[in-house]
Amino acid sequence: MSTRHFLTLLDMTPEELQQIVQRAITLKQMRNAGEIYEPLKNKVMAMIFEKASTRTRVSFEAGMAQFGGHAMFLSPRDTQLGRGEPVEDSARVISSMVDVVMIRTFSHELVETFARYSRVPVINALTDDYHPCQLLADMQTFAEQRGSIKGKTVVWIGDGNNMCNSYINAARQFDFKLNVACPEGFAPNADLVSLNSDRVKVFESPEEAVKGAHLVVTDVWASMGQEDEQRERIREFRGYQVTPALMDLADDDAIFMHCLPAHRGEEVSEEMMEDPRSVVFEEAENRLHAQKALLEFLLAKA
Ligand code: CP
Ligand code: NVA
Repeated sequence: MSTRHFLTLLDMTPEELQQIVQRAITLKQMRNAGEIYEPLKNKVMAMIFEKASTRTRVSFEAGMAQFGGHAMFLSPRDTQLGRGEPVEDSARVISSMVDVVMIRTFSHELVETFARYSRVPVINALTDDYHPCQLLADMQTFAEQRGSIKGKTVVWIGDGNNMCNSYINAARQFDFKLNVACPEGFAPNADLVSLNSDRVKVFESPEEAVKGAHLVVTDVWASMGQEDEQRERIREFRGYQVTPALMDLADDDAIFMHCLPAHRGEEVSEEMMEDPRSVVFEEAENRLHAQKALLEFLLAKA
């Protein structure tokens, strides 16, 4: 069988994604019960980080350790990748020594190239275009809080960024409707939107888009790599902050998610972060469980 990678949600079938999410819920229960489960003994993961991270690094590293394996943090500052060694060569070398590779970087093409030359599974831990691992945790969180997301309405408020693109893929794979509310010029990938036009609708008004939504999601207005645009973006995104008042326009049972880190006072208000409808910290914890389910799926039987 050829090596499976996880570069976007489209690398798995809807059934496989459901299986991973359900398994994440079980793994969480096992951990909470104090059960030791080490299916990845002697397995090693290389973690390549070209951008900062708290949740992704801690969850992958802790997850590998809890599974009886080992994770190795590689930064471009200390590896030859950062000195221009070709990705094709790095992929062949690194994948000859470890069992799985996780990459967080800028260009999505880099991850695709790495995967092409890798003999072990490659996981996209965020690129400028997609953040599929976060969606596993988000889908787990919704399932735990509200049950099946199938047929529900999700609203994305703010920047049409990597997270938003991943929500479009999730709408397709998990079968929900997605409303995107963004200022002009900040819409998500146009091809992705038109490919999924049966379930994705783009609005300018957050108040219009949020009506009847069961899940409200946002993310920072300036992503990593866009720090220079921060001030300008704060101006452009005025009116797109998620607040309790905006949530009041959604379904009565709606919950709020944010992949974090959050900029309180920009894309989300302080009160919204602490509102009972906010599940952002459950969502963050689920990065651990969801990625353990992903690792088990990719590796345990390998
Ligand atoms: N949500 C997320 O990926 O967080 P980190 O950038 O801290 O990994
Ligand atoms: N859109 C954000 C997500 C961070 C987890 C970024 O790319 O910086």
